[in-house]
Amino acid sequence: MSSQTTKIITVFGATGHQGASVIASLLRNPAFAVRGTTRNVSSEGAQALTAKGVQLFTVDAVNPDADQLEAALKGAWGVFLNLSSHDPSIEENEYAAGKAMIDAIQGAGVEHIVYSSLPPSSLLTSGEVPMATFDEKYKLQQYISNSCNFATASFIQAAWYFDNFKYADFSGGFPFVPGADGVYTLRYPSCGPNLPLVAIENDFGDWVHGILLEPEAWNGKVVQGSSAIMSYQEMVERFETYTGKKARVDEISVAEFETFGLSWMEEIAKMFTFFQKTAGRYYGVENDLGNAKKLKAAVAEKVGGKATLTTWEEWLAENWEDKEKQ
Ligand SMILES: NC(=O)c1ccc[n+]([C@@H]2O[C@H](COP(=O)([O-])OP(=O)(O)OC[C@H]3O[C@@H](n4cnc5c(N)ncnc54)[C@H](OP(=O)(O)O)[C@@H]3O)[C@@H](O)[C@H]2O)c1
Repeated sequence: MSSQTTKIITVFGATGHQGASVIASLLRNPAFAVRGTTRNVSSEGAQALTAKGVQLFTVDAVNPDADQLEAALKGAWGVFLNLSSHDPSIEENEYAAGKAMIDAIQGAGVEHIVYSSLPPSSLLTSGEVPMATFDEKYKLQQYISNSCNFATASFIQAAWYFDNFKYADFSGGFPFVPGADGVYTLRYPSCGPNLPLVAIENDFGDWVHGILLEPEAWNGKVVQGSSAIMSYQEMVERFETYTGKKARVDEISVAEFETFGLSWMEEIAKMFTFFQKTAGRYYGVENDLGNAKKLKAAVAEKVGGKATLTTWEEWLAENWEDKEKQ
């Protein structure tokens, strides 16, 4: 749609983990002009984006201001759309809110959409593990595929964020807080043989950027959004090697996993059951880093930067602190 030399990309959910990563990556490429949406342009996250030259628009996906939404999309060539399932405003409304956003995006003549989806947990477990977050996102993926006519539509399904470990209370303290015996203990229910993990800040944005470099090549594809694939045992062993600290796995049952009465934590508890029922095939097929590697390298080739996926050790180098030394 844009007649300008730069291609305008509007990022929905600009202040979130995913959106901020997408924006940070796109800003490295002068071929793109980046816009973002937020409900609050005065928030710290929003102001940080404004300071980087991102034009922000006030859009609440549940109750959008029509003029702001129109302005956010006017002349846009591409869109990245993410909806935050666990925000109370979205929790009960994801499909309706998402469909309204998709219709507005299509109505504005946007050619290329990259939609942040998730695998269909009900379908993959024959109805045994329905998870609203997963099923609603997948339903929206289907809506885009079957009922819309974007020039290209691509889908990315984020793996388990490495950043989830920052909520160390939920993982037995691992990898930030040692137990009373001094051992860093990863206390989670089983996730099957392997857990796909993503360094959301470093890698996710490059994958979306890579798709937008060559949208026709990625049209209709579902990209596995994983930086690494590891078993719990491998994770603790590599943690021990990296930090020199003792660590171990203490696999608990899903029933033993503490959800603190939080609905989003209950969803996470279900996710372990989902992993167990699918033997770790989170995406419904074998976990595979091939496309993630390709997209990361394509962006580095175009605009420079790191060409390889973030490793567990690299994430630890950026995030882990030796609390005993403080
Ligand atoms: N954690 C994981 O391991 C994991 C793995 C795979 C997928 N996911 C999925 O990732 C999604 C969350 O993405 P994230 O991590 O980027 O989110 P996040 O960091 O929690 O941030 C939430 C984003 O959503 C925006 N938002 C919330 N309610 C909104 C509304 N009503 N209208 C418009 N924008 C709204 C917020 O914008 P403002 O506050 O600025 O308005 C913010 O940008 C969830 O659906 C989750 O299921 C998570």
